[in-house]
Amino acid sequence: MRLAHSSKSSREQWSGKLGFILASIGSAVGLGSIWRFPFIAGENGGGAFVLIYLVCILLLGLPVLLSEIVLGRTALRNPVGTYRKLAPGTPWFLTGFIGMAATILILSFYSTVGGWTLAYAQKALTGSFSQIGINQAEAGFGSLIGSPLQPILWQAAFLILTAGICIFGLQKGIERTTKFLMPLLGVLLIILVVRSVTLPGAMEGIKFILYPDWSHVTLTTFFEALGMAFFSLSVGAGVMLTYGSYLSRKESIPSATGNIVVFSTLVSLAAGLAIFPAVFSLGYEPNTGPPLVFITLPAVFAQLPMGGVFAILFFLLLAVAALTSAISLLEVPLRYLEDEHSWSRKKSTFIVGGIIFFLGIFSTLSFNTLSGVQLIPGLPVFDSMDFIASNVLLPTSGLLTILFAGWKWGVAKLLRESRGDHEAGFPLETAWGFIIRWIAPVLILAVFAFQVISS
Ligand code: PFF
Repeated sequence: MRLAHSSKSSREQWSGKLGFILASIGSAVGLGSIWRFPFIAGENGGGAFVLIYLVCILLLGLPVLLSEIVLGRTALRNPVGTYRKLAPGTPWFLTGFIGMAATILILSFYSTVGGWTLAYAQKALTGSFSQIGINQAEAGFGSLIGSPLQPILWQAAFLILTAGICIFGLQKGIERTTKFLMPLLGVLLIILVVRSVTLPGAMEGIKFILYPDWSHVTLTTFFEALGMAFFSLSVGAGVMLTYGSYLSRKESIPSATGNIVVFSTLVSLAAGLAIFPAVFSLGYEPNTGPPLVFITLPAVFAQLPMGGVFAILFFLLLAVAALTSAISLLEVPLRYLEDEHSWSRKKSTFIVGGIIFFLGIFSTLSFNTLSGVQLIPGLPVFDSMDFIASNVLLPTSGLLTILFAGWKWGVAKLLRESRGDHEAGFPLETAWGFIIRWIAPVLILAVFAFQVISS
C-alpha cells in the first residue's frame, strides 16, 4: 500500500535531489556547527570526540533525520498537518506545534547573531580589522553589542534577507539561493583551510581537533556529542520534515540522508581546520562561541599577511552559513500557515517575520538595556530563549517524533516509505528498525536527563 498523496497539486517540489540535499546541508551547517563543534571537539579529546560524535550521529541524528523526512514526504504537509493526517483525531499534532515553537524561538535569537555576522562582514569589507590587537577586538565587539540600536538594525537586515528569500517560495527562493550559496560556502571554506593549515606552527591546531586523546573523554563528552548531533543536524524542530515534504518519491531517502550527514560533518571539521591552526599559530588561546569568532579571530586576521581578505572571506562564510539555516527555520511556520490556514506566502512571510523580529529584539537588547532581565533564573533573555528552544523544545519534539515513527506509525511503514518509488530496501533495515524503536529514544531521554541535572 502506498499512502495517499496530497490533493494540493500546486504544492512545490525540489527540482531534484541536489536541491534538497544542498538546502538540507545549508540548514544543518550554521553557527552551531562552525563555532561550537570544533571547540567542543578540541576540548573533549579531538579525534576521540569526533569518533564519538559519529557514533551519536549514527544512533541518534540519522534515525531522527530519516524519520522526519519520511513523515514529511508521506503526508506532504507541514509538521502539524503531518501528524493530523497520519494520526487523525489524536494529540500527536502537538509534536508539530512544539517543533514549530522551537523554530520561531531559535530564529528570534539566531537573528541577533546573524546580525552580528553581517555587521562584521561589513567591518571586514571596510578594512576595520587591520592592525587591531585582542584588546581592541574585545572593545570593538563590546561596543557593537552594547549599543542598543545598531545591533537591532543589523538583526532587521538579517531577517529581511531571510524573509526576502523565503517569500519567493521553494524553487525560486530557497532552492535557488542555497544552490548558489552552498558551493560558495565550500569554496570559501577550502581557501580558509588551506591558509590556516599552511601557517607555521599549524600542527598544534590540527592536533587539537583531530588527534584522538582519550584521556580527555569523560561522561560529559558523550552528552555533549549527543546534544550536538541534535542541534547541528537541525533535527527535532520539523525543519527536515518540512523540507522532506517537498521531496519527490523518486528519491531514496536513506541515500539522501547519508549525503546530508556526511557533508555537514565534513564542513564542521573543515571549519575547525580553518580556525584553530591559525589561532594556535599566532599564539592565541582556543575559545568558543561569540568570543572566538568576534574577538579572537579578528585579532588573528589582523596579524596574517593579506589578513583583511581572509577576514572578509570568513565573515562572509559565517553570514552564509547563518542565512541558509535561518531560511530553513522560517520555512516551517510559513508552510504551516499556508497548508493549514491557506495564507498567501506574502502574508505569512510579513506577519511571521514581524513576530520573530519583535521577539528577537528582546534577545538583542539582553546584551545592553535589558541585561538585568532574566526569563529563567540566572539566564538573560538571549540565553533563556536558547535554553527553552534548544534544551527543552527540540529534544521534546525530537523524542515524540521518533516515538511516533517507531511505535505509533510503525517502523515497517517508515522503512518502506523511505524507499519512495524504489522497490529495493536499504542495507541493515532490521538494525535501523531496532535503533529507531529502542536506541534513539533512550539516548534522547538520556540527553534530557543530563541537561536537567547539569543546568
Ligand atoms: N543546525 C544549525 C546550526 O548548527 O547552527 C541550527 C539549527 C537550524 C538548529 C535549524 C535547528 C534547526 F531546526
